[in-house]
Amino acid sequence: MLHERIPDLSKFVEPDRVRKEVYTDAQIFELEMERIHERVWIYCGHESQVPRAGDYYTVQIGRQPMLMVRGQDGTVSVLYNRCPHRGAMMCGDRYGNTGEFFRCSYHAWTFHHDGTLRNIPMMESGYAGTRWGRDNPDCRMRPAARTQSYRGFVFASLAEDGPTLQEFLGKSRIAFDDMCDRAPAGEVEIVPNCFRVIQNSNWKIFLENQLDALHPSVTHQSTGRAARNVELAIEKKTGKAPLSYHMLSAFATVTIDKWDGFQTLNYPNGHCILTGYMGLRPKDPDTLEYERVMEKAYGKERTEQILGVNIHHVLIYPGLSVQSPLQQLRAVRPLGVDRTLTEIWHFRLKGAPEPIYRRALAYYNLVNSPATMINADDLENFWKCHQGLSSEGGEWVSFHRHFGRDIDKGNMVETAPDMGTSEAPMRNQMKAWAQFMAAER
Ligand code: FES
Ligand SMILES: [Fe+2]
Repeated sequence: MLHERIPDLSKFVEPDRVRKEVYTDAQIFELEMERIHERVWIYCGHESQVPRAGDYYTVQIGRQPMLMVRGQDGTVSVLYNRCPHRGAMMCGDRYGNTGEFFRCSYHAWTFHHDGTLRNIPMMESGYAGTRWGRDNPDCRMRPAARTQSYRGFVFASLAEDGPTLQEFLGKSRIAFDDMCDRAPAGEVEIVPNCFRVIQNSNWKIFLENQLDALHPSVTHQSTGRAARNVELAIEKKTGKAPLSYHMLSAFATVTIDKWDGFQTLNYPNGHCILTGYMGLRPKDPDTLEYERVMEKAYGKERTEQILGVNIHHVLIYPGLSVQSPLQQLRAVRPLGVDRTLTEIWHFRLKGAPEPIYRRALAYYNLVNSPATMINADDLENFWKCHQGLSSEGGEWVSFHRHFGRDIDKGNMVETAPDMGTSEAPMRNQMKAWAQFMAAER
């Protein structure tokens, strides 16, 4: 039992370092699923993934197989993907349309899109006088305890109580506001389907990497340099290389010393924001046309406000990484202590000119997809970290960089000027982890 082996888990997390078992112990992983992923708000998907009644998408929340489904009245529900009869999984496909109702493939029990019972074959004769009937609350597909969406992004919590979605997200809501506001129509649309990558490493290693400002110019240096060489060659020939080269060459041109110039903002519940980084407002003809469309939709002043939002990356603990100015989203689904699924999505800004979508697609393919060296560079580090942490070569993981120098503003911690490579985001995530893990109920 975990408690017998590790009587006081809180001793495993210190403000500036964390025990390696936090990443490698299978029983700690089970407790994380119970106390974090199966309790807090977890991202299920975007409403535009299920546009028509009966459309569904399956999703893993902690250890629970769930599905997100659109009902006849337009409501999106999140249900356990399980038949209440003998427990068969209701939808075996990853996504699809279930028609006017769910029909279990085993004994043909049927359910409405909100999970309530529709019919059971020969129900009156088969169940008369038994405990099983329409008014038995177990006689339905069980819904997630709570489902809420924010600007089209659907979340579910498997706990009856706790903060509302908006309270939980706090300032990290800017990820969705920034993404949607950049659309002339004020909303985004998912681009099906996502890439799925299984990483042979603990889920926290991925999250810690997202706002790790020290690693890009090291880990991705060779990829960035190769892109920079090609970019220079094209510039020499034609005077101007396509913007997409910059997405990769920035990993070489933004050298390690420059990363201290950015800043991270660290909020309660483990959420963090990275400001700055790439030039996100180039002056090419496509961008100028987009700005014209935005001004038509919002007016000059509001357009300036929207396009002036200076964030590059928002990490929403414990499972979401959003790059709102480039409409990218990665959802993290822990599968086991050393196995993690990431779903890599991108979105279309409704009402924006096509080249702006092409830019998001280029970033998706060049930086976030499994086809790019950037992703491969990171994956190798994640695997190496998990291997090293599984060894007897040391007990602790170090988060000491700029420890004690961050600026604590009460409800947020920001990195001090010229200390953007502070490991504040990792310390912040582990602080939230320890708080969630300590809450027995
Ligand atoms: S298990 Fe679903 S109808 Fe029997
Ligand atoms: Fe990286």
